[in-house]
Formats: sequence, C-alpha cells, structure tokens
Amino acid sequence: MEVSPGPGAAQTAEGPFIQTLAGQRAGRPPLWLMRQAGRYLPEYREIRGKAQSFLDFCFNPQLATEATLQPIRRFGFDAAILFSDILVVPYALGQEVSFESGEGPSLAPLQTAHDLARLAARLDLGRLAPVFETVERVRASLPRATALIGFCGAPWTVASYMIAGRATSDQHPARLFAYREPELLQRLIDLLVEASVDYLDRQFEAGADAVQIFDSWAGALPAAELARWGLAPVTRLIRDLRLRRPGARIIVFSRVVSSQLLELAGTCGADAIGLDTIVDPDWAAGAVQPIAPVQGNLDPLLLLAGGRGLDTVVDRILAAFAGGPHIFNLGHGILPDTPVENVQQLVRRVRGSG
Ligand code: CP3
Repeated sequence: MEVSPGPGAAQTAEGPFIQTLAGQRAGRPPLWLMRQAGRYLPEYREIRGKAQSFLDFCFNPQLATEATLQPIRRFGFDAAILFSDILVVPYALGQEVSFESGEGPSLAPLQTAHDLARLAARLDLGRLAPVFETVERVRASLPRATALIGFCGAPWTVASYMIAGRATSDQHPARLFAYREPELLQRLIDLLVEASVDYLDRQFEAGADAVQIFDSWAGALPAAELARWGLAPVTRLIRDLRLRRPGARIIVFSRVVSSQLLELAGTCGADAIGLDTIVDPDWAAGAVQPIAPVQGNLDPLLLLAGGRGLDTVVDRILAAFAGGPHIFNLGHGILPDTPVENVQQLVRRVRGSG
C-alpha cells in the first residue's frame, strides 16, 4: 500500500477503525496488531541500528515515523500505532530510564518518599517534543482511512516498572510496595494519572485519532488491589482526559483481569475494551460486546506457530464477534520471532481473501 504525504493527506482518519470505535459494524472487522512495528520485521531491524539506544530511536522523529509506517506499507493495517514506549513517561518525570540491548528496560528503582520527591511535579512535555513531532509526521503521511493510535501505559503498569526498575515476571516488587507503602503508591499513581492525561491530550493535539491505555500488569493484582490500583486510576484518567477533550476516542487494554473485566467495561468509560489471550471469545461476545466494542484476541504464540491451526482460530474469533463491533487484534504483542509470512496469512484470512 502506498503511504506518502502530499495532496489529499488528511489530518484526521475516518475509516473502519474509527467507525467501529463509534459502535458501528459493517462487514469484516478492521485490523491492527499490538507491537506491529518491531523486531519481527526485517525493515525494522535494518533501521534499528541507526540510533544508539532504543530511547534515542524513539526520540528520533524520522526513525520513529519510519518504524510506525513500515507495517502499514507492508500489510495495509487499518490503524498505525505510534512507535514509542510506555516508559517515556517516567523519563519525562525525571527518572533515569535506559534500555540495555536484549535486556529490556532499566530504571533507577523508586523505593522511598525521597525517590518520589525527586520526580518532577508534572510531566515535562518539552522532553517529549520528538514524540509529538512523530505523531504529526505520521498523521500527515497516512491515508485518510488509516487511523493513528497514540498510547500510554496505565498508571499501575508504569508504576510497576518505576518501582522494580526492570521487567519482572510477576511485578513482585511493586505488589510488595503496594502492601508496605500504600500512601506512597497512591501519590505516585496520582502523579501518573495527571501525567498521562497531559501526555495523551498532547498526542491528540498533534494528530492522534485514538489512544490506547496499556494496563499490561493489571492481572498481577488480587481483586481488591486491582480495583484500587488498576480500575480506579484508569477510570479517573479517562474521565479527566474527556473533561479536556470530550470527543477523545479511548481503548483500554487491561491484561488478565478475568472476573473484573465486566466491571471495567461497564464503568471505565472507554470506547472499546481490549481482550487478552485468556478471554473466551464466545463468552466475551455475549458479556462484553453488548457493553462496548471489543478488540482482540488471537494468541501471539499461535501467530508465531502459524499453519492451519492459525486459520481455524482466526475464523473462530471472527465468527464469535460477527454480531457486533469488533477490531481484530492479538491478545498481546507480536513476538519477535514471528515469521512475516504468518502475519501475511493472518491479514488475508481476516480480510476474507485467503
Ligand atoms: O508497535 C507497537 O505496538 C508500538 C510500539 C510499542 C513498544 N512498546 C515498542 C517497543 C508499544 C505500544 C509498547 C508498549 C509497552 N512497552 C508496554 C505495554 C504493552 C505490553 O507489551 O505489555 C510495556 C509493558 C512496555 C515496556 C517495555 N518496552 C518492555 C518490558 C520492553 C522490553 C521487552 C521487549 O519486548 O524487548 C520494551 C522494549 C520495546 N518496546 C521494544 C519495542 C519495539 C524492543 C526494543 C528493541 O527493539 O530492542
């Protein structure tokens, strides 16, 4: 597909992705994939070396724009997602953040009231100027029917990295912190709610058509903790963002929240609910889809595995959600070892041409 700036380039999108967020259903569902830009693409690996660190890459508008557009060119997805990372928010609050190659993120762990006091009282939007420039550039290069999705991490998920200082398998350090230092955590969460509102508002200003809030680690919390640290802050974030920007289109993706998914869908105020891999599509079609449009939820490992099993499950997901608004996606991000041909196979299947 051709992706180029120039005459006719639109400032806002109006294609099937946006219509689905408005609750409409027409034909095949729109399609994009979480982490659709990244290491599984040879053209991404080729440009990745042009910046030293991953953060340098995210803060280089030319490279980040290119990375955002690569999967649109190759697959013609209905939405592009800004190429950046959720950890640019702690960075713009003054925390040290770096990415060691192959190791994931590394932050100066936040453990004490003193560490919290050293953060800025408000997000430094100037430090994020290259991200907003990327949003502007991408929007100007996309066809009108292709939406641009901005994003942030949910307060709990971002806090969990700020506290642990690294990726962990179960967010043990942040969960322990929640029990030992609930007041400190509340202050950090409040700061992140406000920072996220500022950040998403500015992404809309620069041309994002919708935003997604990633609560990737919501499911690490027991129910009562999830209500306090996961659902409540996300609900407040959405409410405050809408006060500034009434028409803001918002998707919430809270991973592994099981029994609280319905409460989230009913109360958080998002336009669509992202479903993770563990959710049964038939159950969600009956329970969640009547409340809000749904997005999801193919297992990224099945996309990696490919074969006829992939087609079978894609068909099952399409059939389950055929009666209402649905955005086809994975249940979590694409894995780096995923063969590009499998993504092509998925795209053809969802579009009804293979
Ligand atoms: O294509 C897209 O989806 C847009 C880009 C995007 C990235 N990260 C790029 C990235 C998005 C939306 C994210 C969100 C993100 N970042 C989340 C939430 C979604 C999820 O995956 O649960 C989280 C938890 C992070 C934090 C993060 N960033 C981790 C734990 C890691 C290391 C693990 C890994 O995959 O390497 C990153 C690094 C990162 N973010 C990479 C990319 C492409 C890999 C960096 C590289 O190329 O070396």
